[in-house]
Amino acid sequence: MTGPERTVGTRGLVFNEPLIFEQGSPGRVGYSLPPCDVPEKKPEALIPPHLLRGPIPGLPEVSEVDVVRHYTRISQWNYGIDLGFYPLGSCTMKYNPRVNEDVVRLPGFSKAHPYLPDDLAQGALELMWELERYLAEISGLDRVSLHPSAGAHGELTGVMMIRAYHQSKGNPRRKILIPESAHGTNPASSALCGYQVVPIKSGPQGVVEPRAVAEAMDDQVAAIMITNPNTLGLFEEHIAEIARTVHAKGGQVYCDGANLNAVMGITRPGDWGVDVIQINLHKTFSQPHGGGGPGAGPVGVRKHLAPFMPIPTVEKKGDVFWLDFDRPQSIGKVRSFATSFGVMVRAYAYIRSLGAAGLKRAAETAVLNANYLMHQLKGAYHLPYDRVCKHECVFSDALQLQNDVKTLDIAKRLMDYGFHPPTIYFPLIVSGALMIEPTETESKETLDQFIAAMKEIAREAKEEPDVVRAAPHKPLRSRLDETRAARQPILRWKPKG
Ligand SMILES: Cc1ncc(COP(=O)(O)O)c(C=O)c1O
Repeated sequence: MTGPERTVGTRGLVFNEPLIFEQGSPGRVGYSLPPCDVPEKKPEALIPPHLLRGPIPGLPEVSEVDVVRHYTRISQWNYGIDLGFYPLGSCTMKYNPRVNEDVVRLPGFSKAHPYLPDDLAQGALELMWELERYLAEISGLDRVSLHPSAGAHGELTGVMMIRAYHQSKGNPRRKILIPESAHGTNPASSALCGYQVVPIKSGPQGVVEPRAVAEAMDDQVAAIMITNPNTLGLFEEHIAEIARTVHAKGGQVYCDGANLNAVMGITRPGDWGVDVIQINLHKTFSQPHGGGGPGAGPVGVRKHLAPFMPIPTVEKKGDVFWLDFDRPQSIGKVRSFATSFGVMVRAYAYIRSLGAAGLKRAAETAVLNANYLMHQLKGAYHLPYDRVCKHECVFSDALQLQNDVKTLDIAKRLMDYGFHPPTIYFPLIVSGALMIEPTETESKETLDQFIAAMKEIAREAKEEPDVVRAAPHKPLRSRLDETRAARQPILRWKPKG
């Protein structure tokens, strides 16, 4: 691609950027070196033939400024939490404090090699040991494995521990109960561990009723996996009674604690009767992340499950820390090395910089922000469960459907107003769901701007629905064929001809 289209595009300062492979010209390079002052030799004379690389067809020949501008321009097509409001429900796109980044870049942390012997890694081990204690205190459990690399990985690790525990008693059991308000990864984790998933319906209030659990409970149920707060943003208020019912038949209570950001410092899952919990550090404890991950999903357990934790664990004797591989009942390794260390350092920095009072305040503010949004938008959008929410609220497109405007249209139109859309069509129990999670880090002005945009879209849906149905109008690309993009992605550039 050459000519004005290539450099200036048709959208003012939004550049119509071609691929890097389509740029440059023969012989252009991104460096300049002084003339060689030693005799030149051909690579073949210096390097064994099997290590020599052949020509790479189509490699772009570009200057340094070409490269810098190319990547800077495409970075500007992107949207991130540092650019604006990102109310992606369930994903908790809260601001990532810069102090975390300063701390993780300290050379003692950033340059520590995972193969360092324990005596040369005492600082890193101490941080992990302390972080485990903080997470145990916050969740109300006894031990925490820092291994899992994501929330879903934490679930898998937790269910593997539950299975090993039942197995140690002679019977791994067959079933896991999963409420329909649980996160979608829960049934997947259970099935991967060989369990049959038994769905439990939520009651009219959007939470699980103890009676439904009691009816499904028998001595073949290994565990219940309950997301609390659940995917409707509601607190499972019967959790303690449910836990007693499950324990009475020898089952375990697994809490998907990915939404801990709504309750940390206020109430503790261990005090509800939970035996296992995964905590998504990238959500509650502020890591830079994409939609859901990557990050880390440490798993907290009660004492009776601790022997099954993945190896190695971090232990301490006197002032000395070490990695303990000698745990005969362990489920083994679930990842390389001991943890995603950089994520741990950021979580540690976040917890230390906020302190106990700050963590509680973060949870309270997240809940306040979500309830403010919910109340302001109620009436403009259908609210299927009209009750106090926790960190997120779920609307539906029921009112807009009267004018044939759907959730997807509303989400796309928000992009014209400069906002990242919320999570859509999830949770599945709400048809046409719009799941909005503002997080605690947004100001009232930002929330009010978002509310104004949402109300304006509700008005448009009534009075000029075509505008909403054809949105977005302003981004560089409008509607993509998302199915084709998922099923036939073009991930490799090939030279023409
Ligand atoms: C409630 C809940 N459980 C589990 C997960 C899965 O976590 P991850 O995406 O880190 O695997 C998420 C993701 O956001 C979640 O919100």
